[in-house]
Amino acid sequence: MANPIRIAPSLLAADFACLGEEIKKVEPFTNILHLDVMDGHFVPNITFGPPLVRSVRQMTRLFLDVHLMIEEPEEYIERFVEAGADNLTFHIEVARKPVKLIERIRSLGKQAGVCLNPDTPWESLEPVIDYVDMVLAMTVQPGFGGQTFREEVLKKVSALRIRRPDLAIEVDGGINDETVPRAVRAGADTFVAGTAVFGSDDPGRAVVALRQLAEKAQAACIAEKNDHDSQRR
Ligand code: DX5
Ligand code: ZN
Repeated sequence: MANPIRIAPSLLAADFACLGEEIKKVEPFTNILHLDVMDGHFVPNITFGPPLVRSVRQMTRLFLDVHLMIEEPEEYIERFVEAGADNLTFHIEVARKPVKLIERIRSLGKQAGVCLNPDTPWESLEPVIDYVDMVLAMTVQPGFGGQTFREEVLKKVSALRIRRPDLAIEVDGGINDETVPRAVRAGADTFVAGTAVFGSDDPGRAVVALRQLAEKAQAACIAEKNDHDSQRR
């Protein structure tokens, strides 16, 4: 059974001056929201920290998928959990003891994700791959919205899907109507979309359109696989 498709609107592309209204636009059409935390060190950009996560938590019951683009994620886990994060995803490039970090996040009752930059090989996840709840494969260099999708990352997504057939695999960066079906075919099930959602005239409709395209691609993949299997029998 394939994992259900999830479309995670990224608040990075929303209007920060009226986040409440922006969230209301997508809330009826999804169950997950992506929050990008940037520290100006791990990535050359700065966004927000636990106080904003807390405000968003007070505003919505959506699952809060928090992407930590920060050095020393170990130092901030409790604060983001207290603020109301449901999932904390840290970068493998900066985690000192990733298995311990995963255990700590889960001991606080939250899901743990591990993220890979576009140039980081998937094998660097080998020590944690059997413990994480989710892998996030960056399909752009992290730090900014509105960049072009890096197709070559999909090879890594396919390898991860083979390694962990049941794992939630999220892709982030340059996701739109054209790239989402390709990411589905590689094996991703969760799609972060900033510009494609909040940059559109109708963010709710953009989420629905992305989901429909992803579900159609997933159904086609399953049908092809079934065909292939029955021909081999
Ligand atoms: C970039 C962030 C993304 C960003 C994606 O570093 O991790 O979540 O919001 O933006 P788009 O969808 O515009 O590429
Ligand atoms: Zn992100």
